[in-house]
Amino acid sequence: MLSIIVAIANNNVIGKDNKLIWHLPEDLKRFKKLTTGHNIIMGRKTFESLGKVLPNRKHIVLCNDANLNIDNENVEILNNVNLLDKYIDSNEENFVIGGATIYKLLLPKANKLYLTKINENFEGDVYFPEIKQEEWKIVSRETGIKDEKNPYNYEYINYVRK
Ligand SMILES: NC(=O)c1ccc[n+]([C@@H]2O[C@H](COP(=O)([O-])OP(=O)(O)OC[C@H]3O[C@@H](n4cnc5c(N)ncnc54)[C@H](OP(=O)(O)O)[C@@H]3O)[C@@H](O)[C@H]2O)c1
Repeated sequence: MLSIIVAIANNNVIGKDNKLIWHLPEDLKRFKKLTTGHNIIMGRKTFESLGKVLPNRKHIVLCNDANLNIDNENVEILNNVNLLDKYIDSNEENFVIGGATIYKLLLPKANKLYLTKINENFEGDVYFPEIKQEEWKIVSRETGIKDEKNPYNYEYINYVRK
């Protein structure tokens, strides 16, 4: 199964210039806690924006370039989205971690959505697709810690597909 994990601004912006816009260490901690030990699925641009291979997670990277090769046993490059079927069909939770192109491609196939909703508008160049309320049910929501290092009002909202 696929679970999407994403941080979204009020205006649905998720990034700019192939980077995250905000810095929310509490949300990054949560991302690490949720995804460690699982497969993480991403687009080539998000993989590049990570800047490194994250520990204790297999990275599955979608890319059209058949010549791209990353010499790391924790990185698998897939040139065809159909090759994700074994992850979609498995009982294990596989996390889709972005970016915009991959969220759009895989939101219809996901069963869970871990959303961090930041209560501010940001200027950006990539957006999360519409979450159709008739398709998703909120199962939990929790206010994020706001302090000098996490200077935004934000909320963790977990959804499951109806
Ligand atoms: N706020 C968040 O939670 C969050 C999370 C992740 C990312 N982001 C942001 O999102 C932005 C990146 O998103 P993006 O949409 O520009 O890029 P992306 O989704 O990370 O990657 C797009 C790339 O994935 C490959 N790809 C896409 N569809 C494919 C398919 N069907 N088959 C094979 N390969 C495929 C292509 O790689 P090739 O060009 O190599 O063929 C494409 O250029 C950044 O700003 C990042 O910071 C935000």
